[in-house]
Amino acid sequence: MPRFAFPRHRALWADIAALLPTTDLAHDADHILRVYAWALRLAPELGADVELAGAAALVHDLVNIPKDSPDRPLGSEASAEASRGHLATAGYDAAEVAAVVEAVRTCSWSRGLPPTTPLGAVLQDADRLDAIGAVGLARNLACAQTFAPRSPTRFYDPADPLGTSGRTLDDVRNAADHLPRKLLKLAATMHSEAARAEARQRHAFLQAYLGQLQREAAAAAEWAAE
Ligand code: ADP
Ligand code: NI
Repeated sequence: MPRFAFPRHRALWADIAALLPTTDLAHDADHILRVYAWALRLAPELGADVELAGAAALVHDLVNIPKDSPDRPLGSEASAEASRGHLATAGYDAAEVAAVVEAVRTCSWSRGLPPTTPLGAVLQDADRLDAIGAVGLARNLACAQTFAPRSPTRFYDPADPLGTSGRTLDDVRNAADHLPRKLLKLAATMHSEAARAEARQRHAFLQAYLGQLQREAAAAAEWAAE
């Protein structure tokens, strides 16, 4: 059991840990715990309750809908509903449950809902930070691997790795397309100054990755053509 500063977080974790996916590296328990740590850290700046921010992080991905499913934008709403009983079991009262449920409901990027409370803003920032930087890149590639059994998937388009030729970006076909399509937009959506500062650094890392990818792909294309 990880170390939790709040007894109700410990109770919540004891209840939900076994429900978290073990086959999806992009949404494993470590993702939840990283989002949790950032939520605790960001809450004071945005004026959110620290304990509720931690609880929201712990339950925010209870229901995991595959990223290539048409129902994917509904994952946050499903997680919000699924969290009610677990929060009550851990000792949260009706008003606290309602606040956490509202924050989880607006968490998803693909759903595109703006947060309606400081708690929602904290959770969005914390979850989005985990989608960029080194961990974000690893999650992107792990996620792409889960598409492979269902549809043709590859790391990048060898003819246009960065998707700058004007072709339509397809982030199920090309994992790298997910960077211009989504991940490189996240830094600009942060609500707190602390998340913005961290996101800037992680964004630069993703840009450096794309530069290197371009270099390597161009070299391979050149040698193949000789
Ligand atoms: P949402 O908030 O829309 O539910 P998430 O932010 O939870 O989506 O996505 C979780 C992780 O899955 C992120 O790390 C993201 O990079 C990855 N991911 C989502 N869609 C794709 C995709 N089409 N290709 C590769 N990775 C993806
Ligand atoms: Ni998440």
